[in-house]
This record gives sequence, C-alpha cells and structure tokens, in this order.
Amino acid sequence: MKIKKIETQFEVYDDVNELPKDVSELMAEAVKARLRAYAPYSKFLVGAAILLDNGEIITGNNQENAAYPSGLCAERTAIYYAGSQYPEAKIIRMALIAGSVKNKTTMPIPPCGACRQAISEYEINQDLPIDIYFMGESGEVMRSKSLSNLLPLVFEKSVL
Ligand code: THU
Repeated sequence: MKIKKIETQFEVYDDVNELPKDVSELMAEAVKARLRAYAPYSKFLVGAAILLDNGEIITGNNQENAAYPSGLCAERTAIYYAGSQYPEAKIIRMALIAGSVKNKTTMPIPPCGACRQAISEYEINQDLPIDIYFMGESGEVMRSKSLSNLLPLVFEKSVL
C-alpha cells in the first residue's frame, strides 16, 4: 500500500475590488445573470459568465422546474450554450456568483460536482486550462487557475 497526496491550489481575493479590471467586468456580467435566475423553489440564485477566446461573453443562470431534477445549474446552462453556439471557441475564463435570497452568502461558493464534471470535459477537449473565479453574494473571491484544481481525480473520456 502507498499513499498518494494530491495538492490543489487557489487564490483568494478580499473582494471584487481586488480583481483585475477585466475579471471584475466578467463578474459583473455574472452578477446581472444571477438576478435573472429562475429559482422559485430553492431561492438560491446562481450566475455564470464565460469569456471565450473569440471575445464573446456568454452568461447563464440556474433554471429550476416543478419536477425538481429537471432544472439545470447556471454553470451548465452557460457552458452548454457556449458549446452549442461556438463549438470552435476556447473558454478562457468563468466567473461565478451564488447566494440564497433567504440569507446573505458571503463565502465563495464553488460549482457543484456535476458542473465540475461538465466543465472538465471542455477543459480537457480544448487543452487549455479554464480560469475560474467564484464568490458568494459578496465578500471573498476565490480563483482556480484550472478546473483540475476543483476536480483532481476526474472521470474522463479516455477511459471509455
Ligand atoms: N446551483 C447552480 O446553479 N450551480 C451550482 O453549482 C450549485 C447549485 C443551483 C441549482 C439549484 O437551482 C439551486 O442552485 C440550489 O441547488
């Protein structure tokens, strides 16, 4: 038996004001997208903004449904739209903001496991790390320079 250790790394910014201007502008798009979320059941609103290498910015938010599992997270709403509209484009960066309308969320909220899995497929396909910033409604912003920091032991298509 041997033990394997995996190290993962994040940057933490005090708040959005500490971000480079282009990143805070992308986060501002995620903030706007979050406010358009359709989340009447969870009251948990999530916004995503994606910068593509062709300059396009794609936004998305969570879309819920009375048949609960039929809803979709913000990250996948946005990334699937990007993939469907711009299949040749590479994803440079994602900005994510999440928080409940019931209580103010001030700690960074990372994407759920299913979204990490979905994002990883795009990162692996494009052979370029996706830079991911995520935050709560306010407060610290965390940065992962690659999706792989968020999902070190990925299940990927090469095993199929
Ligand atoms: N949600 C997202 O949009 N992204 C995540 O990464 C986690 C959860 C949504 C799904 C659901 O509409 C609500 O947040 C509560 O889980």
